[in-house]
Amino acid sequence: MSLDELPVRDDLRGKKPYGAPQIDVSVQLNVNENTHPVPVEVADDIARSVRDALMTINRYPDREFTALRTALATYVNDGDAQTGSHELAYGSGATIDNLWAANGSNEVLQQILQAFGGPGRTVLGFPPTYSMYPLLAEGTGTRWVTASRGANFVITPDIAVAAIRAHQPDIVFFCAPNNPTGTPLDLDVVRAAYDAFDGIVVVDEAYHEFMPDSQPRATTLLQGRPRLLVSRTMSKAFAFAGARVGYLIADPAAVDALRLVRLPYHLSAITQAAATAALRHTPSMLAMVDDIREQRDRLVAELTALGYDAHESHANFVLFGGVDNPQATFRALLEHDIIIRDVGIPHSLRVTAGTRDETSAFLTALAEIGR
Ligand SMILES: Cc1ncc(COP(=O)(O)O)c(C=O)c1O
Repeated sequence: MSLDELPVRDDLRGKKPYGAPQIDVSVQLNVNENTHPVPVEVADDIARSVRDALMTINRYPDREFTALRTALATYVNDGDAQTGSHELAYGSGATIDNLWAANGSNEVLQQILQAFGGPGRTVLGFPPTYSMYPLLAEGTGTRWVTASRGANFVITPDIAVAAIRAHQPDIVFFCAPNNPTGTPLDLDVVRAAYDAFDGIVVVDEAYHEFMPDSQPRATTLLQGRPRLLVSRTMSKAFAFAGARVGYLIADPAAVDALRLVRLPYHLSAITQAAATAALRHTPSMLAMVDDIREQRDRLVAELTALGYDAHESHANFVLFGGVDNPQATFRALLEHDIIIRDVGIPHSLRVTAGTRDETSAFLTALAEIGR
């Protein structure tokens, strides 16, 4: 029996699932993970916390994941204090009532669409952008509508406002910095979009720890904007992709909306214990962020020197154009035991900034393969 023969929902017929290739090669620079492993002493401490959680695993977990939300609130406030976000989220700092979490920020985004989107509703995005947005929209029966970016993939306030007026969406997704282009987002765009309609504005800050410290985050706009939702993740800079933990900072009313759609006990006791323990080791978990930023800037410089058109990036990856045949280059790199990502943008490929050695291996192989 094939999928086509099953009575699947009409709007899902012929659709393709998320499909970043999972290929076992030595240098994996394709899904924007932090490629540095977690220090062993941190892993041991997390394992002790997971073991403690197992002693009561016969019981359902804390449905409100209070300890995790408390730890996340501290993480958000400390991070905002260290970056250019001098104005903390909510002035004096986010409280646990402003925090929500789920199994990856993908689930956070899905819950936002379940609560504020759905059949008859529309979500607006600005491609090229994160490939899961249209899939999450489809899965929740929300219509995905798009508007073009300006030169160099930049969204200006005028572009955002014109797109909102044209499409009258219920939700707008901004990805800041944007995946797969790395493009930063000026907060004036968020301000203008928020004022242009009365729907939900989502700023997906999955990669914000890689932004320059001097750059204010969207959390500084939260006060007085109850329809603004800032989504983040422990999967990228925080080196915790395998644990599946994403989170949201928003007005308590928006968090209450997500409670309406979440599955009971959606965050397992093991996930809660692991994430709360990992947050106790924030300095170790984030220790490699500066190195990764250095490798990202090196990628831009060396790709440019090789004659490629490397785009400015505030994330842990670089999109580069000027590739004659992206599929052929992708395959040639695979033969060198290296995987990067063909994101479907003509003559372009995306590469994650890895360790110094991984980044060197990629640059050496690419120079050898040629354009
Ligand atoms: C822009 C963006 N948002 C969200 C995610 C989802 O991450 P996770 O579900 O691991 O938190 C990703 C992952 O690649 C991403 O690139």
